[in-house]
Amino acid sequence: MTVLRDDCEVLVGRALTGEEIVLDLISEAHWLVTGQTRSGKSVFLYSLLSQLARFPHVRVVGVDFSQLLLRPFARRFSEPWIVQDGANLADAVGFLEELKAEMDHRNRYLAGTMSDKYDQFAPRFPLIVAVMEEYPGTIARIKQFDASAKRDEKLLPRFQSLVSSLMAESAKAGIRLILIAQRPDADIVGGAARENMPVRIAFKQAGQEAYRMMYPDIDVAEVETVKAQPPGVGMIETPRLARKVFKGPFVKTDAYLRHVQSCDLSYMRDLDIDKKFRLTVANEWPEIGDPDGSPF
Ligand SMILES: Nc1ncnc2c1ncn2[C@@H]1O[C@H](COP(=O)(O)OP(=O)(O)OP(=O)(O)O)[C@@H](O)[C@H]1O
Ligand SMILES: [Mg+2]
Repeated sequence: MTVLRDDCEVLVGRALTGEEIVLDLISEAHWLVTGQTRSGKSVFLYSLLSQLARFPHVRVVGVDFSQLLLRPFARRFSEPWIVQDGANLADAVGFLEELKAEMDHRNRYLAGTMSDKYDQFAPRFPLIVAVMEEYPGTIARIKQFDASAKRDEKLLPRFQSLVSSLMAESAKAGIRLILIAQRPDADIVGGAARENMPVRIAFKQAGQEAYRMMYPDIDVAEVETVKAQPPGVGMIETPRLARKVFKGPFVKTDAYLRHVQSCDLSYMRDLDIDKKFRLTVANEWPEIGDPDGSPF
């Protein structure tokens, strides 16, 4: 029997008004996390991903040329969908193609069911969280590559079209994109794509305009409040949560790396799914009966 889970709650932080902010990744769609350099984006992701690392029904993947944020996920067991080598940009495109193929496969199957989205997950059918660390930096690298590439070898059109289809159609397939960007510039994270990222988190930005791109109805007083805050304090808004100023937990890099690498999910997978323990019990004590019927 497969254990299905319909929740994936994470603590975002504490609101300045005192309450804890908790989001469920299954009910929320894609995320856009912005903020100028040293504003707290990576630390926020350490806290978020540390929590996701403990869930056997969540698979963390993505493109991370900083080679830091996703490194412990790549190391704890071999994860082909983590791309860290910025010198090999075709790998990033290849990863997105595979992710889109998974999305298409899931959506085709969904079309034959009574449901309009997946909302239950298990180790063999995980919620996929795809993190794009410093997304505008990735785009800039691809542009640089394309400048000297032959016409039919240019990567940017493929890369951007894959990201657009994923933005538009992957949430119902149980895929969540988390885009990280210092600035939410229109030429990088265009209007339509931004509309499809309803979880908006902004750490400190230089000017009002950057906040307006995230929250079109924000007023000057709100901008001044959040601009005056130290690193790690940001704003969050989702379709289920009115805009709030919050402080995320402080997680040190080394503690994050150690924690994620030590979350041994293969152990939990065995218990949940592979029935190894139950099979052993059934072999040793046949009178207990078939493994699927066993209370173990
Ligand atoms: N939640 C927090 N609580 C306390 N301090 C924090 C918090 N978040 C960030 N800081 C401080 O701010 C520094 C910069 O944070 P971080 O590395 O997350 O920035 P960043 O937005 O990822 O920057 P960059 O765009 O350059 O990668 C941290 O090293 C830490 O000292
Ligand atoms: Mg960072």
